[in-house]
Amino acid sequence: MASFTQERVLDVHHWTDTLFSFTTTRDPSFRFRNGEFTMMGLALSEKPLLRAYSVASANYEENLEFFSIKVADGPLTSRLQHLKTGDNVIVGRKATGTLVIDNLKNGRNLYLIGTGTGLAPFLSVIKDPATYERFEKVVLLHGCRRVSELAYGELITERLPKDELIGEMVRSQLIYFPTVTRDPFRNRGRITDLITSGKLFSEIALPTLHPAHDRVMICGSPALLADTKQLLLDQHFVEGNHGEPGDFVVEKAFAER
Ligand code: A2P
Repeated sequence: MASFTQERVLDVHHWTDTLFSFTTTRDPSFRFRNGEFTMMGLALSEKPLLRAYSVASANYEENLEFFSIKVADGPLTSRLQHLKTGDNVIVGRKATGTLVIDNLKNGRNLYLIGTGTGLAPFLSVIKDPATYERFEKVVLLHGCRRVSELAYGELITERLPKDELIGEMVRSQLIYFPTVTRDPFRNRGRITDLITSGKLFSEIALPTLHPAHDRVMICGSPALLADTKQLLLDQHFVEGNHGEPGDFVVEKAFAER
């Protein structure tokens, strides 16, 4: 059996000059856990060109969704950004990754920390009813340079609260906290600084981060991962992975360099 399926692009959305997302058909045999990534790309004549992409849609949804940057000279995204409805992409048959709630110990509050396209796996996690069954509050932090890069805000604040399956849980348990560093906005500053200063917790009216009651997932640039991880280690959070659930888990956003 081939390790990829061919899927048809259903819809493309350009958020900014550098960010876009698209939905595709989904092979009925493709199974994944919310928060995981798979390989996705183009079947070029020479050989398939693939990169790791988090699945932004939930595992119970009919279609797949991907959120990507556009890199002018990036081998894949320079081509991928021109996708149109009806084009084909190839999607790996397997999904994997550490950003799954099974890799976390039980806790009261779940913090999802994503910068840029590092939001993608958390879109899947916040649509999962199991997330709200495991945690009392789910805090989604999205950090970007510019307001225009805060993609999916309308989905999170308008559509999910009205969703038939998870609307009620989203309304009572999800806290969305977008923040930007290079534009005026109601929330400003790096996520790490907002945590360290305590400003985040006074804004969202939750206690300061503590391993006794909080669990954390992180997805973003290598620098964000390193700094956030150190911040958590300093507060005695323990990193989790497959087979060894912990207080936090980490995955780099799969940006094309
Ligand atoms: P800043 O504008 O101060 O660099 P990027 O596009 O570089 O991945 O950044 C996305 C967002 O993450 C930006 O708001 C950026 O802030 C922030 N960021 C970048 N590096 C770090 C880091 N090491 N710790 C916390 N936030 C970071």
